[in-house]
Amino acid sequence: MAQDEKSGTDIAAAGSSHAEHELVNAGTAVIDPDPFENPGFPPHRHRVTDENPKREKRAQRTVYTLFYLSIVGSIWAVAAYMLFPIESGDPTDIRLNNMFFGIGCALALLAIGFGAVHWAKSLMSDVEQVDERHEIGGSPETQAAAAKVFADADEESGFSRRSVIRNSLIGALLAFPLPAVVAFRGLAPQDQIPVPLLYHTMWRKGTRLALDPSGAPIKASDVTMGSAFHVIPEGLAELEHGKLEEKAKAAVLLMRLDPNDLHPSPGREDWAYDGIVAYSKICTHVGCPVALYEQHTHHLLCPCHQSQFDITHEAAVIFGPAKRPLPQLPITVDDEGYLVARSDFTEPVGPSFWERH
Ligand code: FES
Repeated sequence: MAQDEKSGTDIAAAGSSHAEHELVNAGTAVIDPDPFENPGFPPHRHRVTDENPKREKRAQRTVYTLFYLSIVGSIWAVAAYMLFPIESGDPTDIRLNNMFFGIGCALALLAIGFGAVHWAKSLMSDVEQVDERHEIGGSPETQAAAAKVFADADEESGFSRRSVIRNSLIGALLAFPLPAVVAFRGLAPQDQIPVPLLYHTMWRKGTRLALDPSGAPIKASDVTMGSAFHVIPEGLAELEHGKLEEKAKAAVLLMRLDPNDLHPSPGREDWAYDGIVAYSKICTHVGCPVALYEQHTHHLLCPCHQSQFDITHEAAVIFGPAKRPLPQLPITVDDEGYLVARSDFTEPVGPSFWERH
């Protein structure tokens, strides 16, 4: 056997000892690798539904009753949405609609939840198993084992066998989205195609510009240099239905600048009146009201995401996420000196999304 020349130590024995030392990490060498004994499973206790067929039947009845209750909740939500319509805009109508519609949705969802939990806790198999970790793989044996797991789960849960429960659950899950379909349908305008509605506002040729919210018409002489007015079309304040929808499209900001500061493009030279310009107040980013006017720079600022528009250059975007200028409302004055619109906006107001139609 080879020996170290100086110490005379057996080299093979020294090498083996070194290899053993390598296996034990110095940092964890003092830690007991398994300080607690595995206590194993506690003794299995059968549920009443495992031992008493009557209780099992009762649990089964409870589960499918809950699923049927969910169906009733969904149908009630749909019915409540129609029985308590929000048509007048009266807060009482809104409260009643929300309350009864919400009760239906809550019942539908809660009953599915309680039914599923009760099914799992009282009727599905409660055998405890150890699922050892194994290599991730997709060999035919593994796939066959996975298929068997599903088959066993089906057998133990009784999903195929307990057809009343299964069918009532399927019915409840199918019925549950119905209230959402009805509610979202209700957001669309009734008996009208929505796209043209988005293209047009209340502004027409000759509509007077009026103060928001009083509705008082504005004379050109009222608009002093550097001032900014929040404007609505005359007549909007008196509308009985759809006032908010119309205002959301037609709101305008009115400002007076030195006419020499304006740089209109060809064809838009007469859209302003003596330095007075009107621009849509609805931000072209995602529709917030652009309500901050900086008089010195002639910039409009949208407080939502800080888009800035330069009104000396037709409200061009100079900063922020907005992608197109604010639409300009062409204006002039009538015989009495009141500011009036020359026409509706010539492009859709609001987020650029609508322009893509
Ligand atoms: S909505 Fe105006 S910047 Fe986003």
